[in-house]
Amino acid sequence: MQRLAIQGGNRLNGEVRISGAKNAALPILCASLLTGDPLQLDNVPDLNDVATMRKLLQQMGVAVEATGNQVALSAAHIDKLEAPYDMVKTMRAAILVLGPLVARFGEARVSLPGGCAIGSRPVDLHIKGLQAMGAEIHIEHGYIHAQAKRLKGARICFDLVSVTGTENLMMAATLADGVTVLENAAREPEVVDLAYCLIAMGAKIEGAGSDTITIAGVEKLHGASHRVMPDRIESGTFLVAAAAAGGSITLTGTRADILDNVLEKLQEAGATIQVAGSTISLQMSKRPTAVNVRTAPYPAFPTDMQAQFMALNAVAEGSAMVVETIFENRFMHVQELRRLGAQIDVEGNTAVIRGCAQLEGATIMATDLRASACLVIAGLVAQGETVIDRIYHLDRGYEHIEAKLSALGAQIRRIK
Ligand code: UD1
Repeated sequence: MQRLAIQGGNRLNGEVRISGAKNAALPILCASLLTGDPLQLDNVPDLNDVATMRKLLQQMGVAVEATGNQVALSAAHIDKLEAPYDMVKTMRAAILVLGPLVARFGEARVSLPGGCAIGSRPVDLHIKGLQAMGAEIHIEHGYIHAQAKRLKGARICFDLVSVTGTENLMMAATLADGVTVLENAAREPEVVDLAYCLIAMGAKIEGAGSDTITIAGVEKLHGASHRVMPDRIESGTFLVAAAAAGGSITLTGTRADILDNVLEKLQEAGATIQVAGSTISLQMSKRPTAVNVRTAPYPAFPTDMQAQFMALNAVAEGSAMVVETIFENRFMHVQELRRLGAQIDVEGNTAVIRGCAQLEGATIMATDLRASACLVIAGLVAQGETVIDRIYHLDRGYEHIEAKLSALGAQIRRIK
């Protein structure tokens, strides 16, 4: 099993190019199932989750050609309408094939995702939405079996905001008979990026980015080209790393307009931020000030940035409260941070962090994707060596992270 060894204490300086967004690329890859024509994608990040999704689509019969960050897909011949357990258990986003398959082929068998490290994460809203559109759904042998002659437009009001739920139903609705209105829809920028791709494929979608999305179903979609948006969570992770370790970094190929909340928190922590076009620069010359964080659906503070801010708060001046409102068990990094000397108390969904002047390197274990990012940041600021175990989580969602951090001056290496 691979590990990362980090020698803490270096400031971060220099430029880093931000990759395409994992959470936009995954649904957009699934959108290829909606047409028999080729879909040409650019800025697709080289990540394990993307490789898993490509493999899943290939198993179904999709022709996939990847060259660097470009991926060409053609779902002209599909012979298997199934996402098996093996795939779904390694990557929950595999559920995103459900909507497109039922919409275009009238049938899908998708494994129910099992438990998840950060919470129970059911998919009931995906299922209820498809049922409202006329799909017959049976749960059998751990699989969701969905069938529909042709989905029908419906008014669907989500009980709670679900990102992949919104994406699955938005994709399904593009080929439905009639108009679908998604209310209390997720407003995440990745939903908007998917909508742009679908619109380029001929879908009729209005309101993506607001909480009401209206989709007028069409008979057929066609091929298109699409460039995947920059990863706002990767952007935020590098900015927090530099704010915690100190230094001066510039992100290129990113977008500041979708990071408002994160940039405000970094400024509150004492960082100087400058935005110019597609670059964001951050300077930090002192110990950060502790900042309170409360996660909520976009445009509020993202749950995918909570763990990284916990690492920042662990070495900040003062105390902070971090409240997690999206996932019920997303504090697994706390135990590991404590092994580095962090002072954190957890009560329910609230963590209280008392910043300490110095963390001390130790061997720690990554438990999920964003927890891994938090531990890397902690390793960058801890005294001595930190070894992070189970970094396969990190490879699911961060493109070339150790190369990018090394280029910024971090002492980080992979132990194979
Ligand atoms: C997506 C992101 C993930 C991010 C999360 C929240 C992708 C591939 N993943 O995950 O990185 O952390 O949004 O911003 O885009 N829920 C239900 N029933 C459902 C669906 C969701 O109860 O049918 C609950 C979940 O358990 C969770 C909350 O709704 O408590 C939000 O989850 P959701 O937005 O669906 O997360 P994902 O789309 O899985």
